[in-house]
This record gives sequence, structure tokens and C-alpha cells, in this order.
Amino acid sequence: MAEVLLGVSGGIAAYKAVDVLRMLQRDGHDVSVIMTRNATRFVGPETFSALSGRPVGLGQFTDPGTAGYDHLDFARRADVAVVCPATANTLARLAHGLADGLLSTSLVAFDGPVVVAPAMNTRMWEHPATVANVATLEARGVVVVPPASGLLADGEVGMGRLASPADVCAAVERVVRHGGEMQGREILITAGGTREPIDAVRYVGNSSSGKMAWAIVDAARDRGARVTVVAANVDLPRRPDVTYRDAGTAEALHRVCLDEFPGCDALVMTAAVADYRPVRAETGKIDKSAASSLQIDLERTTDILSDLAAARADQVMVGFAAEAGAAGLQRARDKRTRKGVDIVVHNDISAPGIGFGSDDNAITIIGPGDAEVFFERRSKRACAEAILDALMSQVTARTG
Ligand code: PMT
Repeated sequence: MAEVLLGVSGGIAAYKAVDVLRMLQRDGHDVSVIMTRNATRFVGPETFSALSGRPVGLGQFTDPGTAGYDHLDFARRADVAVVCPATANTLARLAHGLADGLLSTSLVAFDGPVVVAPAMNTRMWEHPATVANVATLEARGVVVVPPASGLLADGEVGMGRLASPADVCAAVERVVRHGGEMQGREILITAGGTREPIDAVRYVGNSSSGKMAWAIVDAARDRGARVTVVAANVDLPRRPDVTYRDAGTAEALHRVCLDEFPGCDALVMTAAVADYRPVRAETGKIDKSAASSLQIDLERTTDILSDLAAARADQVMVGFAAEAGAAGLQRARDKRTRKGVDIVVHNDISAPGIGFGSDDNAITIIGPGDAEVFFERRSKRACAEAILDALMSQVTARTG
């Protein structure tokens, strides 16, 4: 149970903050509310004070008869702050440290984790100033619950709808449970699929999208880790608060991992790395009129995980196993021992709707002593949380 400061700023979505308040309470949290003056034009403060059972913070200088420091009191009391909805104006104030109202002043005085749930018209959300402010906040470790796309209050359709109250509360819950847990840890995450050139235009590759790795990146950042990603051909949006190094082939990925591995506390090897590559890549484009069939000689690539495991200091190492069918789980167990890693995450890529390219996964986390936990189909983000829980239990087992 945590003490939550709920900041409500002035947008039409302010009424949804009432649901957020109720859900936070249902999750067992105590909630204090600060409303901006504009927010009170959309919802009456009485609603929030009646539901929270506490006076609502409205302004810094509302009661000349008292000599309190309301902004410090709100900031001191809170374990986590959530701003919902966060208007473009409130995001800008927060990004630039402006302290000209009770909410903005309290947030500047608050040194705990902050979650913001923006809601605004699409053009305001996409304005370069808002984009830069969101990037600044993310770089500072603020958790941004991105708005959804759909019909907006002004009748336009686009990005800018407040995320669902359930998603906002889930983000708060994650911060309460795990916020700061990985502070000071360096996590190296590989992502995507390597492409091994046959000639100047063709390659041997796979359909890894990078979504699983990207979910682990988000989860690790929300827990306070510093994250470096080695990305093999991933075409997904990148975070400003993460270091990315591109490595398109197995050989390049190996090289970059060798470079980054000594400085990390944990490696999560999500990338689908080619096991074989063409012995020789033609420099030009192979002329298909020259022959009706083509033989390509393949050679084994280096097993990067095994190579790094042999050289490790005390990094926690997590590998994946993309296996098809019922016998795959045993092969995954064998991989954990053979490759010398702490944890292997098995996913059955023959099952529909999960694995390569999808938004969901179903995983079995195999840990030391072949201890196994199965997580049925769920979002890749939820899988990422389970994987980081397992990783952190290994970190704790080592460091006490
Ligand atoms: O990117 P998405 O579209 O979201 O899809 C996610 C995923 C299905 C790619 C991911 O969940 C996954 O299973 N990644 C591992 C794919 C894979 O290469 O599995 P493998 O069983 O072939 O390899 C086992 C482990 O050894 C992996 O951690 C792999 O990164 C590593 N490996 C493989 C070959 C090699 N030469 N060196 C390695 O280190």
C-alpha cells in the first residue's frame, strides 16, 4: 500500500481521474488530490474530497489564516505522484521545473517516482515542444503512460485520448512495486533478428520484430535501470533515455556484445541470432539468369551467449529459447545448461498469436536447478515484468 499524490490538470479527461482515484483506492492505496485551477472547471473539487476523504489541494495561497507549507506537505507525504490527465501545459511546467501553482510546486518539491498520463488534441501531442518535453521527462525517469488513439472530445480522431484508468493504475502499481529496484544497475539487452548477407541485396534472416526486447527495455527503465540495447534490424520507436547500438549481423552483434558485456550487471539476450551464415557474401547482386538453382554454403556463427558466459565476471545472464512444439521445453532446459546462463525464457513459436512479431507471448522461465514457472499468453510487457522479477531474484541471491 502506498501514499499516492494524484495531480489533476485542466482537460476534458479530468473526469476520468475520478475512476483512477477509485481504482487506486481499490488497489489499497491512500490518495491525496491536487487540482489545478483549470481542472476545477471540468470537475468539482468536492467530488475528489468526498471520495478521497481528504481536503483537495487547490492553490498555494488559498487560506491566509494558516502558515503551512502545503506544497511541501503534499510532497513529503507521497510515495509516488501521478498526474492524470497531464495537459500539454502541465507537461511543459514539469519538464522545465516551473513552480507557479500548488501542483507544479509540489512536483518540483517531490523527489519520488512520477507517472504522467497525457491527454490532449493530436496536434498538441505531436507539437515539437510537447515531444521535446515528454523526451525530457522520460530522460529524467518519469514514467509516461502514452495516450491512446481514437475519437477525441473535440470530434477529431487521432492520438491523444487519455490511456484507460486501468492502464494508468497499472503503471502506478508497477512503480510502487518495482520503482527504483534496478537503480544503479546496467542492463544489456539484445533485440531483433540478424541478417546474414548472401549478396548485396539478399540475406538469411528471421522475422523478429524486436517487440519482446522493447518491452523488456521499457520495464527495465521503469524499474530505474540504465539500459543499453544492441539492436539487430529493429524498426520500432527509440527512447531518449536508452543507449542504442546497431548491429545487423551475428558477427557485428557478437562484437558489440563483447564490447558492452564487461560493463553490465545483467544481459538479456532476446535477439534471434542466426545460427548459420553464408560462407561467402557476393559483393554484387547474384544474377538469377545465370543458373536455375543456387547452392549456398552455410557455416555456423559463434554462439554469443556461450562465449560471453565463459568470460563472465558475475553478470546475471538470461537467454531465450525459440522452440517449436512439445519437445521444445526440454531443448530449452538443455540450452540453459549448455550455454551456461542463469535463466532461459522458453517460448513455443509454433503456438498461434505469440512469439515472433506478435504483441503477446507465453513463456516458461527456467531458472537455476531447472525451477520452472509457466506464464500463459499475455502482453509482452507483462512477460517482461515476469522476466525481470526472475532476473532480480538472481541479482538478490548474489548480492544479498
Ligand atoms: O522480436 P519479437 O518479434 O518480439 O519476437 C521475440 C522472439 C521470439 C524473437 C524472442 O522471444 C526469442 O525467442 N528470442 C530468441 C530467439 C533465438 O534465437 O532463440 P534460439 O533458441 O535460436 O537461441 C537461444 C539463445 O541463444 C538466444 O538467447 C539467442 O539470442 C542466443 N544465440 C543464438 C545463436 C547464436 N549464434 N548466438 C546466441 O547467443
